[in-house]
Amino acid sequence: MKFFIDTANLKDIAEAQALGILDGVTTNPSLMAKEGITGKNNILKHYVDICNLVDGDVSAEVNALDFEGMIKEGEELADLHEQIVVKLPMTKEGIKACKYFSDREIKTNVTLIFSAGQALLAAKAGATYCSPFLGRLDDVSTDGLNLIDEIRQIYDNYGFETQILAASVRHTMHVVNCAKIGADVMTGPLSSIMGLLKHPLTDIGIAQFVADYEKGNK
Ligand code: G3P
Repeated sequence: MKFFIDTANLKDIAEAQALGILDGVTTNPSLMAKEGITGKNNILKHYVDICNLVDGDVSAEVNALDFEGMIKEGEELADLHEQIVVKLPMTKEGIKACKYFSDREIKTNVTLIFSAGQALLAAKAGATYCSPFLGRLDDVSTDGLNLIDEIRQIYDNYGFETQILAASVRHTMHVVNCAKIGADVMTGPLSSIMGLLKHPLTDIGIAQFVADYEKGNK
């Protein structure tokens, strides 16, 4: 299972990278705005800064909603750095753009997926990644994990190579349950990754080992 971090915060990205388990980064216009990154040139520069911090794929989202605009923006993003994956919205135009880029071997991530049918279309269009939004489904009393499970079944039935990128992950149990289902990738905030380290019995065990060692080596 690949671990991506879902942020545009360079400090958080560097912290996850330093742990040695980071496989990539996802961003979106909201995450960029949260870090105060505005204006086209600053946004493009920020994507390059992120690529220079990590080894894996970095999803960069287009803002255009029409096909021509998506192609222009996506090509510009893809030219920035070899690690860039063009992130496209799950719309009719987005699916057309996904097919355009996959025919040209440019990596894509189809985002804002909330149904198995949408995920099927993304795979048919040759998406590298499809991003079902787990947490946002949970927010509206709908089982987000069930969607991940449905997509896994459909992709496995036909051997689709599109990777399921479980997005809108909010906490550690989302990560663990996605791993049980067989999501290819999860993307979440730093807390969802670092939280996996924690167990009180580990802390108690370490304290005991340290105390016993010190007792025996006075
Ligand atoms: O990866 C998608 C993500 O950025 C959305 O997360 O927490 O805003 O639903 P959230």
